[in-house]
Amino acid sequence: MTSSVFTGLTPQAPDSLLSLIGLYRRDPRPGKIDLGVGVFRDDHGATPVLEAVKAAERILLDTQATKSYLGPEGDIGFLDLLKPIIFGDAVSHEMFGVQTPGGTGAVRLACELLKAAKPDIRMFIGAATWPNHTQILDELGIETVTFRHYDQRAQRIGFDDMMAALETARAGDAVLMHACCHNPSGADYSLEQWAAIAAVVARKGITPLIDLAYQGLGLGLEEDAAGMRLVLAAAEDGLLAYSCDKNFGLYRERVGALYTLTRDAATLDLAASNIRALARTNWSMPPDHGAATVRIILESEALTTLWTSELDAMRARVADLRQRLAKAVPLLAPLAGQHGLFALLPLSPAQVARLRDDHAIYMAGSGRINLAGLTVDTIDTFARALNACLQGEPA
Ligand code: LMR
Repeated sequence: MTSSVFTGLTPQAPDSLLSLIGLYRRDPRPGKIDLGVGVFRDDHGATPVLEAVKAAERILLDTQATKSYLGPEGDIGFLDLLKPIIFGDAVSHEMFGVQTPGGTGAVRLACELLKAAKPDIRMFIGAATWPNHTQILDELGIETVTFRHYDQRAQRIGFDDMMAALETARAGDAVLMHACCHNPSGADYSLEQWAAIAAVVARKGITPLIDLAYQGLGLGLEEDAAGMRLVLAAAEDGLLAYSCDKNFGLYRERVGALYTLTRDAATLDLAASNIRALARTNWSMPPDHGAATVRIILESEALTTLWTSELDAMRARVADLRQRLAKAVPLLAPLAGQHGLFALLPLSPAQVARLRDDHAIYMAGSGRINLAGLTVDTIDTFARALNACLQGEPA
């Protein structure tokens, strides 16, 4: 009988999405297709380092004079240069930015701040969402109110569900929304819908927490931010969690930021002091390399042009695959009007398992696929397997 303190722990299920990486790797079947974790892939299945990133890293290597600490906010130049890309000139709030380890760090910090500010806060959240959203909220003991963001079977956005849910919000409650390229569904609100959300958020005194993790991979840098800007501009306060992991292809460098928006400077100082304290106890100082790389890109007109052209190419590839799949599988026609890396297919868990077991096709158990895992060569194989699956067994 062991006396280890750890025997008191409750076993945790492995993260189902991350487990797919190992399962796929161990599958010896040739022609296997990986539509699991959300990373961009090129037509050879690779996730290359962007040329703009390589060039900026060379500059960083040559010019960085010290690795001494920068402070809890991280790289201020990085934070300032991202601001116009994220907010344009739409937002007139007082604003405090802090660098975070990835978008997850930003979401976590935002939720901790909200919980500290209002211990009985409720977070409105659309289902399905990125599983880590709910895991973070649950771990922090934040009560969630769930509405249907997407009807998986009908492949339709649940806008009315959201509006009805927000009408029940109490002043000071919060809502967590994906700015673009909704994960897992790919189904984004239209500008008109964002405007309606902005109106209800302002009228009810709801704090929006916007997760912007895929800017530029949907319709374009400006287009992907336009809707959420309406909401932030209308709200009393707001929080914007950002990730550069996808649009700069910096995944493992964990490059994120959290921006906090208020209407007056004294309130912002109060929030900022709490954010610094929370960051200090979480990670003390954020990692530097990825953020410094992004800063160097954004400081240079030439590197920014190179980056945006690489981003345009990534977006075009994913959009092309989306259109091809929507055409190849008639039941998936709604995909054509959705955006970004992901689509949530009308599949049951049993059908997802069958696609893996019988066809070596890997996707999240929810039926989410990463379109970038397809190629023009594999799309027909995938469409055939999917058509057979969709016809053979009810979803
Ligand atoms: C995804 O949803 O696949 C990505 O955001 C990777 C992750 O950490 O879950």
